[in-house]
Amino acid sequence: MTTTATGISLITEIPGPLSRDILARREAAIPQGNAKLTPISIASAHGSLVRDVDGNQFIDLAGGIGVLAVGHTPDQVVEALQRQAGELIHMCAIVSTYESFVAVAEKLNSIAPGDFAKKTVLMSTGAEAVETAVHIARSYQKRQGIVVFQGAYHGRTNLTMSMTSKFNLFKKGFGPFAPEVYRFPFPNVYRRPPGMSEESFVDWHLSLLDQSFMAIVDPSHVAAIVVEPVQGEGGFVVAPKAWLEKLRALADEHGILLIADEIQSGMGRTGKLWAIEHSGVIPDMLTTAKSLAAGMPLSAVVGRSEVMDAPHPGGLGGTYSGNPLACVAALAAIDQITDPAFLSRSASLGEKLRARLEEIGARHPRLIGDVRGLGSMLVMEFVKDPVAKTPWMEATAAVTVETVRRGVITIRAGLYSNCVRFLPALDISDDLLDEALDVVSASVDHVASEMSMAG
Ligand SMILES: Cc1ncc(COP(=O)(O)O)c(C=O)c1O
Repeated sequence: MTTTATGISLITEIPGPLSRDILARREAAIPQGNAKLTPISIASAHGSLVRDVDGNQFIDLAGGIGVLAVGHTPDQVVEALQRQAGELIHMCAIVSTYESFVAVAEKLNSIAPGDFAKKTVLMSTGAEAVETAVHIARSYQKRQGIVVFQGAYHGRTNLTMSMTSKFNLFKKGFGPFAPEVYRFPFPNVYRRPPGMSEESFVDWHLSLLDQSFMAIVDPSHVAAIVVEPVQGEGGFVVAPKAWLEKLRALADEHGILLIADEIQSGMGRTGKLWAIEHSGVIPDMLTTAKSLAAGMPLSAVVGRSEVMDAPHPGGLGGTYSGNPLACVAALAAIDQITDPAFLSRSASLGEKLRARLEEIGARHPRLIGDVRGLGSMLVMEFVKDPVAKTPWMEATAAVTVETVRRGVITIRAGLYSNCVRFLPALDISDDLLDEALDVVSASVDHVASEMSMAG
């Protein structure tokens, strides 16, 4: 670890000269499609602190896009990886079995929601997990239709890209897309019609579900409904409890499987282990990745045993799926995340973070239209005016540029790319969080005054 114990330390302009050199090489060697959100080049990181190649130290509120619930290079994970690297790096679980591969599956079976027998299949990326969940559902149901939602993000393979919303950023030019994907409306309460109460809006969306099963696809054709309990890339839009309950009821009525995509919202991020637990709804299958293995590539589908066993022997898996290094990292990370003290810290961190963001929002009511999310998965949504709610992408981008320039890593999200999202390590200290949020606050003040000067 080469970070220092205290917070932000900036010793060059941002980006510094060494960062700029590496970024120039990146531009020459790597296609523009593989874009970057910040202009810094990183040398090392520990906990919530990140050090760049010029020796500047930043506080990280992006966490590798929600991957670092337990922070950067946590000691238990590093020790497990170092031990494992000397013993076995790769075997391929299709060739032979190693104990950690089984132990991760057993662990996930025991901690996923639902009081029924479960099985788990391990993959490497979130998209692979979602795609695998769809294969399993289709194999079990002998139906093809998959229901997804406006604003959803499920990955970048052809099937999961087909399931993803936000055409221009993720899909433009990449078609044709996979068939048998049916997109229903998603209740984004903030963007409800003017004058409509939150309650009436949710009621209206309950009726839209019935209508969609008439107008868009017949339920008898649908194998699975795939839903993010809190939309991630869509801008941390929380699915209302009554709406999730209705999805469960419709799935039960029509013999459809309900799949919760918890790749961004799971693993303690919302103050409970899984975001869907806030609603009490039990999914038939759940996908997880990101914070599951503290930055090692590991994803999983956990589900009802009889459903998971539907595909034929050899139908699931991949060369790297459930790699030994990823598995020991996951066991160490899960151990830490499932500790009740860690989860309660995540919940109290979320309250503190929300209070600070709401305070910033209250100071800028014309610029910040909404502060929302669940637990420590929160966004500020930037608008040009609070009544029309016109998204303001430029102000959002300016805020993230400004926070990085002042030593705090933040990134964007949202269907309109007009949200700044916060995904800190869940064990970030109060002091570091305060220091980082002071920077966020000053950055919003700065952008607000610049934007009003620009007219
Ligand atoms: C909800 C959700 N599903 C799926 C994915 C895809 O995961 P990956 O990028 O690991 O393929 C993501 C990634 O952000 C996600 O947030």
